[in-house]
Amino acid sequence: MTATPGTTIVSGGSSGIGKAVVEGLQDRGRSAALLDLRMPPEDLLASDHVLFAHCDIADPVAVHGAIAQVRSQVARIDGLAACAGIGGAAARQSIGISQWDRVKAIVSVNLLGSYWLLEACATAMAEGGGSIVLVGSVLSRKGMAGMSAYSAAKGGIEGLTRSAAVELADRGIRVNCVLPGPILTPMSRTGFEADGLSVEQWTERMAESVPLNRVGVPQDVASTVLFLLDGASSYMTGASLMVDGGANVG
Ligand SMILES: NC(=O)c1ccc[n+]([C@@H]2O[C@H](COP(=O)([O-])OP(=O)(O)OC[C@H]3O[C@@H](n4cnc5c(N)ncnc54)[C@H](O)[C@@H]3O)[C@@H](O)[C@H]2O)c1
Repeated sequence: MTATPGTTIVSGGSSGIGKAVVEGLQDRGRSAALLDLRMPPEDLLASDHVLFAHCDIADPVAVHGAIAQVRSQVARIDGLAACAGIGGAAARQSIGISQWDRVKAIVSVNLLGSYWLLEACATAMAEGGGSIVLVGSVLSRKGMAGMSAYSAAKGGIEGLTRSAAVELADRGIRVNCVLPGPILTPMSRTGFEADGLSVEQWTERMAESVPLNRVGVPQDVASTVLFLLDGASSYMTGASLMVDGGANVG
């Protein structure tokens, strides 16, 4: 890798974990380009070091277009934090047409979206190497009723990480993934509110199964993503790191 830091692509940078990654990059004086369906909060865009490109990561043409647009505006792309994702249950036992559409969306965004981003960013990084971090989930390791499609997509993220790490190593590109446990974000809020739980009820209930006795905040995951983007992790590739307060220790 060259000495001058380049720009990091952050998908899903408008909310939750992705937004915390962008803020962490800002704190370190690093440049970020957000790719999201939603506009980020205005204060995030106020910085000269933050770009925004509207993009549906489930669409490979849109992803390649957005990366090309960013590439034309910056000196170099040397990082990808693939944080965009959708949650939600898609019950296997009651599959119908509308349910199938939901399964397709979960796989298209959470797995294929990460694949398109990785492919486009690896091409853009070919000149000088870089670091790619995919955001999976502990649900690739642990079963949960109604989450078959999500678990399958997140399991794919771990496999994608391992093979891409081997494929891209000789180009100086590292690939790792982070597996969050329960993190309080707009995504988890949508899930527990649909189950009729308040934030207090959800955090109390989830904390019971977490040895560190609390749910996570976006910064807990972002700090691990930032470590994997950084040179401090330069001898790591193909790794999956759980960030779950110890809830899924084997
Ligand atoms: N919150 C948790 O408890 C938790 C646990 C495990 C894994 N995760 C994973 O962490 C990642 C971030 O989740 P979060 O909790 O911060 O969610 P969030 O909903 O707060 O943020 C997700 C962001 O992704 C964007 N996005 C969604 N679909 C998109 C698409 N097709 N194209 C572009 N952008 C899109 C959204 O607009 C949003 O800004 C996801 O991959 C999620 O699966 C979250």
